[in-house]
Amino acid sequence: MNTLTVEEHPDRTVVTLNRPDARNAVNAAMISELHAVCEELERTPKLLLLTGAGGVFAAGADIGELAARGRDEALQGVNSRLFDRIARLPLPTVAAVDGYALGGGAELAFACDLRLASDTAVFGNPEPGLGIIAAAGACWRLAGLVGTSVAKQVLLGGLKLTAERAHGLGLVADVAPPAELLDRTHALLDGIARSAPTALRLTKIVVDSPGGHPHVDDLAQAVLFETPEKRTRMDRFLTGRRNS
Ligand code: COA
Repeated sequence: MNTLTVEEHPDRTVVTLNRPDARNAVNAAMISELHAVCEELERTPKLLLLTGAGGVFAAGADIGELAARGRDEALQGVNSRLFDRIARLPLPTVAAVDGYALGGGAELAFACDLRLASDTAVFGNPEPGLGIIAAAGACWRLAGLVGTSVAKQVLLGGLKLTAERAHGLGLVADVAPPAELLDRTHALLDGIARSAPTALRLTKIVVDSPGGHPHVDDLAQAVLFETPEKRTRMDRFLTGRRNS
């Protein structure tokens, strides 16, 4: 890996975007390395913690590369396909956002299931200023996360969301001092890791399937009701009550 640092833990993978000289701008090499991370997480599901090196999450797609792309490259959805793949990873993903998350960097954070911010975090989508749209998810995911009105303030009005504002809007789960951001994110993941992995996986599919309710919910529950994990966990609860 040239653009990422990847740390494997038994229950989670920690990926750090690592092009600090370019403010972690997402270039083709980073896209391809993130696809490799996704492939591994699809094969062996684990939680994902995604963060950036050097006090920045990511300052966008690499503008040098964007400048050279034309219609056909745009239609390939280079960034949007990766971010969709990340959004569909089997187990929960959490972005720890320190500093700037702009353009494609913001869209990458929006594609994660949860976000924590340091108090220096700034989310923004300045793409129209470069003559393009935010085509890798912000035009629809952001509205889903914070509502269309605020999304239009960001996408059309150039509003930059500070950590405090993002927290108030529910875009980030919590705000921490930069030095505590990773520990706080790991603590959140520790809590998530206590749940049954298959239940987490199916919950994510159901939440992300708005057109399928209530049938998809019933199907997922039917699968989970037959798992030994469900029996063990419920027996543990009921036995604990009878014995207390
Ligand atoms: N793509 C490519 N390179 C980028 C980049 C991007 N999105 N963002 C920053 N860089 C590079 C700069 O070109 C600069 O390279 P250089 O040292 O070779 O000149 C280096 O990163 C540092 O950037 P700089 O602007 O000096 O850092 P800063 O800390 O003063 O400002 C930002 C940080 C994020 C505010 C500023 O870099 C910026 O506005 N970046 C572009 C944001 C953007 O429009 N993103 C949307 C892209 S779709």
